[in-house]
Amino acid sequence: MNYNFDQIIDRRGTNAIKYDKMDFFFGRHDLQPLWVADMDFATPSFILDALKQRLTHPILGYTKRPAGFFQSYIDWAQKRYNWTVSSDWLDFSPGVVGALAIAILSLTNEGDKIIIQPPVYPPFFNAVKGNNRQLVLNPLIKDEDGTYHMNFDQLEKLIDHKTKMILIANPHNPVGRVWSKETLEKLGELAIKHNLIILSDDIHADFTYPPHKYTPVISLNDDIAQQSIIVTSPSKTFNIAGLSTSIVIIPNKKFRQQFQKKMHDMHLFLGNIFGNIAFETAYRHGEAWLNELLSYLQGNIEFVKSYLQDNIPHIKTTTTEGTFLMWLDFSGTGLSHQQIKDHLINDAKLALNDGLSFGQNGEKHFRLNIATPRKNLETALEKLKIFS
Ligand SMILES: Cc1ncc(COP(=O)(O)O)c(C=O)c1O
Repeated sequence: MNYNFDQIIDRRGTNAIKYDKMDFFFGRHDLQPLWVADMDFATPSFILDALKQRLTHPILGYTKRPAGFFQSYIDWAQKRYNWTVSSDWLDFSPGVVGALAIAILSLTNEGDKIIIQPPVYPPFFNAVKGNNRQLVLNPLIKDEDGTYHMNFDQLEKLIDHKTKMILIANPHNPVGRVWSKETLEKLGELAIKHNLIILSDDIHADFTYPPHKYTPVISLNDDIAQQSIIVTSPSKTFNIAGLSTSIVIIPNKKFRQQFQKKMHDMHLFLGNIFGNIAFETAYRHGEAWLNELLSYLQGNIEFVKSYLQDNIPHIKTTTTEGTFLMWLDFSGTGLSHQQIKDHLINDAKLALNDGLSFGQNGEKHFRLNIATPRKNLETALEKLKIFS
């Protein structure tokens, strides 16, 4: 190991949402924060050094994206996913959720139906409803061993002439599925049959654990690629979410032009100096760091799983195939959702994400962020023992 993921870094007082907005969301400030999906590890030094280097020049005026910005992602996708991305398909966006909203605004009309599959990342709900599209829910189904699946039978029944888009997360936050090639192919066929756009949020793509592999929906075949858009970013992978820099991948020329026009009309295309530098540096130099990070996170996932099995078997986990998030099922405790929440906040003093914020089928579930030094997880699990 060349990097130290065990180092505990005090983030309080840096305006980190996870720490400094805890009071606002949980009504108290003395909780151990394991909620917001960023990591408690240092942003890698090669990125910090590149940012410091830029600061040796005293002017931070309007700045274009560096020539190698998009190429750094093309090379990353080729190397890590054996996926050839054409430079024509790529454009910038100032954050992933913003790009989802822009795609919705530019490619669908008011009143159109858009499908999401809860439990899912809460901003998906508002990206649809907040932009005056009709939200259609196709909840994931959970099997006996706690694995979630897309409900294809129901999905096809939900589609009508008003349905224009399905929004997915791959890997899926919060349940940790890395959607298989077969699942995405099935979805792609359905999208072609019904002329739906697949809008795929792949921000967690770099976090997959063997034997699971990330399959970009666009990589499946040309027909599916023409119906699909991917939004992605190095922001989770390298802990640079505060820099609001991401990209969209749109092989369909007409869709791309519509997206670009909306970005232009809203004057959102510029980006920022530091985001540009961090993005390119991450993809150019981040491989060794990421490999070490992934093995540390895998160790954390195994640690949580076996600790719960041995000490608090009432709390069940789903298999985290990807992401640094674990989806904990408290239904075996026999408590109501509100009782579980109260115990977590007021007795265990833990700040986890409330499962209900991911949809109704998140009841009695809470999301645990394991991207933190193992010592922090040990402390948290010890506190969770009140449920044993
Ligand atoms: C699935 C998913 N999409 C998007 C985001 C946030 O992306 P951004 O900060 O670039 O809008 C998150 C952050 O937790 C996420 O989990």
